[in-house]
Amino acid sequence: MDIILLGPPGAGKGTQAQRLERTRGMVQMSTGDMLRQAVKVGTPVGLKAKAVMEAGELVSDSIVSALIGERLDQADGTGAIFDGFPRTGHQAQALEILLGERGRKLDRVIELEVDEEALVERITGRFACANCGASYHDRFKLPQQEGTCDVCGAHEFKRRPDDNEQTVRTRMAEYRAKTAPILPYYEERGLVRRVDGMASVEEVAATIDGILDDPGSLSR
Ligand code: AP5
Repeated sequence: MDIILLGPPGAGKGTQAQRLERTRGMVQMSTGDMLRQAVKVGTPVGLKAKAVMEAGELVSDSIVSALIGERLDQADGTGAIFDGFPRTGHQAQALEILLGERGRKLDRVIELEVDEEALVERITGRFACANCGASYHDRFKLPQQEGTCDVCGAHEFKRRPDDNEQTVRTRMAEYRAKTAPILPYYEERGLVRRVDGMASVEEVAATIDGILDDPGSLSR
């Protein structure tokens, strides 16, 4: 099963993708994570992407599509969760080609519907485990034991350099201008299911599980 999680910055795509990876053996394909890793290591892609990401703008379609193609060839889970990809019409077309070349097709696009103002609080309060990347929040999702990652037990956490209010507003404007317009492309094909992303993490998870477990919902 190959699915897209679609929604603006802070909608909860990464949180839900990580959970689906743990519970269903699917593979999270986050172009944001791939780009951050490239920046950290200092690869040619990372050197190109760093300033663009810090400004909250979009990295070029060709770079992110190539990253997804490479990852599809490496991954061997029960399906892919595309998180933060596609973000433009060109990327949506590229994804279709990349999946088709591998005998795969998209099963579902899950749109997380959210209130953008609330997302600023979500993003500026976000932090992650420095070891395994598990996602937390100062108010909404603290580790069960203070200072210890629930998933791997590590004690160090990190925050993203683009998680400040000014950059978040640019990222949201990019979403409205370039990403939201790809939804009709998937709606026409009956692939889109909407989920209330303002519900709790657990409620959002249960709704997504209901969609993925309903064979009728997945047949086309
Ligand atoms: P990327 O890393 O993809 O960031 P994003 O889309 O802005 O999304 P986020 O990771 O900020 O949010 P999320 O929806 O995953 O939310 P999360 O689950 O963490 O991209 C970063 C940059 O890379 C882009 O700006 C761009 O420059 C570049 N890039 C990446 N992909 C690209 C592409 N395809 N093309 C071009 N450029 C690309 O949740 C947020 C917080 O809220 C967390 O703390 C979480 O604990 C909490 N939370 C989650 N769900 C809930 C809930 N239901 N209730 C309360 N709190 C919640």
